[in-house]
Amino acid sequence: MKSLKQLCQPRKSVFDRARRDVVLDLTDLIENKIDPADFFEENWRTDGMKRLLKEAFRRFEGASQQGVFVLSQAMGGGKTHNMIALGLLAKHPEIRKKVIGDLYDTKGLGKVRVVAFTGRESDAPLGVWGAIAEQLGKKETFKNYYAPLSAPGQTAWINLLQGQPTLILLDELAPYFEDARSKSIGDSNLARVTTTALSNLLVAVGKDALANVCVVISDLKATHKSGTTQLNEALSDFEAEVGRGAMTLEPVGLNTDEIYHILRTRLFEKLPDQEDIREVAQEYAQAVRDAKQMDITSASPEKFAAQLVESYPFHFAIRDLYARFRENPGFQQTRGLIRLMRVIVARLYDQQYGRADKVALIHAYDFDLNDRETLAEIVQINPTLDNAISHDIAANGQAIAEIMDANLGGTDGEDACRLILVSSLANVPNGVVGLSLSEIISYLCTPGRDLSRLPKDVLGVLATKAWYLHSSREGKLYFKNVQNLVAKLKTTAESYNRESSRKELRAFLDGVFTPVMKDCYQAVQALPAVDEIDIISEKVTMLITEPYPGGSLNPDLQKYYSDLTFKNRILFLSGQRDTMDGLLETASEMKAIGHIIAEMEAEKLPDSDPQKVAAKDMHDKIRFRMLSTARETFTTLTFPQAEKLATADFLMNFTDNNYNGEKQIREALKGKQKFTEDVSGDTFRKKCEARLFTQPTMLWSEVKKRAATTTTWQWHRADALDLLKSDLVHKDQWRENGGYVEKGPFPAPTTDVQIQEWSRNDDTGEITLKLTPVNGDTIYYEIGATATTSSLQAQDPRVFLASEMEYSFLCVDSKGKHDTGAAVAWKNRITVKSRTYQDGTAKMVELRAAPDSPIRYTTDGSDPKTSGGLYGGPFSVPKGTICVLAIAEKGGVVSDVHRRDIGWDAKEELKLDLNKPVFWQREHRPKTTKESYEFFALLKKHQASLSGPQVKIVGKNWLELNFDTKLMLDGEQLETAVNHLREILTEGQVAVEAETIHFATGQRLLDWVKDVKTEIKAEEVKQ
Ligand SMILES: Nc1ncnc2c1ncn2[C@@H]1O[C@H](COP(=O)(O)OP(=O)(O)OP(=O)(O)O)[C@@H](O)[C@H]1O
Ligand SMILES: [Mg+2]
Repeated sequence: MKSLKQLCQPRKSVFDRARRDVVLDLTDLIENKIDPADFFEENWRTDGMKRLLKEAFRRFEGASQQGVFVLSQAMGGGKTHNMIALGLLAKHPEIRKKVIGDLYDTKGLGKVRVVAFTGRESDAPLGVWGAIAEQLGKKETFKNYYAPLSAPGQTAWINLLQGQPTLILLDELAPYFEDARSKSIGDSNLARVTTTALSNLLVAVGKDALANVCVVISDLKATHKSGTTQLNEALSDFEAEVGRGAMTLEPVGLNTDEIYHILRTRLFEKLPDQEDIREVAQEYAQAVRDAKQMDITSASPEKFAAQLVESYPFHFAIRDLYARFRENPGFQQTRGLIRLMRVIVARLYDQQYGRADKVALIHAYDFDLNDRETLAEIVQINPTLDNAISHDIAANGQAIAEIMDANLGGTDGEDACRLILVSSLANVPNGVVGLSLSEIISYLCTPGRDLSRLPKDVLGVLATKAWYLHSSREGKLYFKNVQNLVAKLKTTAESYNRESSRKELRAFLDGVFTPVMKDCYQAVQALPAVDEIDIISEKVTMLITEPYPGGSLNPDLQKYYSDLTFKNRILFLSGQRDTMDGLLETASEMKAIGHIIAEMEAEKLPDSDPQKVAAKDMHDKIRFRMLSTARETFTTLTFPQAEKLATADFLMNFTDNNYNGEKQIREALKGKQKFTEDVSGDTFRKKCEARLFTQPTMLWSEVKKRAATTTTWQWHRADALDLLKSDLVHKDQWRENGGYVEKGPFPAPTTDVQIQEWSRNDDTGEITLKLTPVNGDTIYYEIGATATTSSLQAQDPRVFLASEMEYSFLCVDSKGKHDTGAAVAWKNRITVKSRTYQDGTAKMVELRAAPDSPIRYTTDGSDPKTSGGLYGGPFSVPKGTICVLAIAEKGGVVSDVHRRDIGWDAKEELKLDLNKPVFWQREHRPKTTKESYEFFALLKKHQASLSGPQVKIVGKNWLELNFDTKLMLDGEQLETAVNHLREILTEGQVAVEAETIHFATGQRLLDWVKDVKTEIKAEEVKQ
């Protein structure tokens, strides 16, 4: 590609500082100081100028009605330049053909009179009209209007101007009017008088007599000084007057290619032909095409080329970007641009800087901010951005973009920054600033530039480093005089000391490696000092330790490990790369962004706020960086295995910002067999018995301690050993006893008999036993001696009726699996019962032992065991006896002492006439058929009868027979009645209820009482 230097030759004026600032003035025209050839050499005929020249010459020939022209353009826009151009052509007929020959044939038109007034000459003593008259050599004509100054009328003007074609140029009237306002003339002022004078001139020019006079006025509005407090009325009036009949022309078409043409003409002496230009344009088009292939721009290569052909040797972006600051206060449109470009081009062609031979175009960003002159130009355009420039863009190699480029190679960062800077120079309210990513990419698209790294490596990195780069809501990047989040982050981060950054780093590492499942390791300690390390028997603790170049573990830690008791309770995560500074720096940023976000939360900034969004985004980025640095740093796991420390490579794998440290550590250690999830099967028991539970019997706490100290022991969930123990104890594979655990196999237990008392008959002393064979199936029993297999076999081993005093039982396992245990002895108990009854007036006591055994008793309260008499049958207790004490003994078994209290204090002495009939009022209720018939037999035996008894038969069905209480029934009658009833209801038990029994004599009642062994109470008897 042909370079700028090869194809274009700048004018000398570009390099000549003295000439750069020369501004031609109408005075130079009048005083003939301008060489027309030189002027037109550097002139570009804009459309506005062509129009002016053509129309003005038609006017000079009297061929046009249009005699007044207004040149409208902001400061430095080419107004004076157009006037000079016209003035020179008017004055110099010889150059007309060359300059405007193609536009208009001026035929034989001779010299045109040219008068010019520039408002800068505020001291014109005779007013504008005097100055004009003087230049025409007709000062005298207006003599009446000089003292005092007064406005010439139309005819006076006609008189002055008629005849030769004349050009009147009025420039810079606004400052003139401003000044004239303060010069009073009578009760008016010079401004008002000038308004009248010039208005009259304009009217006069409209007359036929002055049909060859042409007046050109530079825009009055455009040159208003901003900040003028009081609107200059006279000027406004004049403006209105001019507006009436004048033709307005724009010296330089804004947003047209004219600006390139002017720049080209003013800056370059020699430019290449179209062929070369097209070639350059094509190469750029190719670069765009390549970028399109990478899908990073949507610009059209053809359009790109076409635009470049028009703008060459400038990049077409210049027009739009430079137009953004056209309105900045103090910036002078065309003049300012020419000036700026001269500085830029001069720098490009500078011997040392020498970029002109490297580039093929002058791009929008091709200016050297490290060049004082260029910097001054830019700062003048927008003085607020000097901090942004010096921190982010250019500071003799120290700015962010420069450092970035030095690292990355190339100039992408600086170019992008300068481009964004140019787009951010507008300094007026609502000025357009900033460029979108795609705009930046397309404007930076040049042959040979690798655009692919722009979005991420260049702009992405810039966004995290530059202090004054901002992003608008629409995503446009721009520079602003306000520090951005990055700056705030950096300054906040820098305010933290190393210790607090370290704390943040520890918290971060703790956070990402905190165990949740806790089956592999149970605790984390990040970056502890050696004396802070706390290893306990119950937990595997992972220590995240500072990287140590040259070895996986710092010697201090190695020493710590060799002194450690719980050698199987430690795990190290470390590495060898010295990235500690980077980690700490990122940690301080992490802390800073946390602080910034917290501040935003405190200010109740909504989540949608772009600042907050950016802060959150930055938080994510920093976290990602933190993870990335951590990944580079912590690459080695060191853990105890087989009597020494083993290592495993460790690579933190994370997607986005999610990282589960524990999961990865588990996987890594599982791969190295240091950690296992398999803790339920028999293998785990075998491992435990082989490595920890090595003795037949051990303290369980010892077993667990061995797990903490034995490095061959694998890691597993923390409760695995306890679970294993309770499972095995349950299955009787292990046995636990007072903190000790014993491991099997255990000998089979011997047989045994379990004896339970089921029920006891207290009358007979017989006991029903329930016998259960243990570890056997056959039970032998023996009475009075020890049972052997020759003894009798208990038939139904479950229920055994024991009526003897002593038994022996032996259980045998007929399958022979269990050895026969000892015979089990069983002894019955002896119980004593007693009752008292009456025999005549005597009180009788009857004793009975169950089972039947000899009884000894006393009636005087002495111990029956030592002094008791042998019981032979019921005996009459001596009057006044308080209690009878009895004891039974048989076969060495002794009963408890039985006590029967004897009551003597009957309320009423029984008075019974033995010969008279008697009613005994005692309730008798036999409930079974047997009892009922015994009752009938008693009635018959003692010739007693019942009054009004009740008879029932109760079974599945029932019946009831009631008698009147006045009816008396003897035993015979009742039995007959019942027998009858039982014919009706054959099933069921016979029950009788009687309130009173009648005896024929008192003696009969006493016989009954003795017979059934009961006592009668006085109140029961009626005679
Ligand atoms: N058509 C052109 N060809 C070459 N140079 C031009 C052209 N138009 C304007 N210029 C240059 O632009 C600069 C500004 O023009 P000029 O001084 O005429 O502006 P102005 O409108 O009179 O400004 P001010 O408002 O400050 O008086 C000058 O250096 C001038 O030479
Ligand atoms: Mg001017």
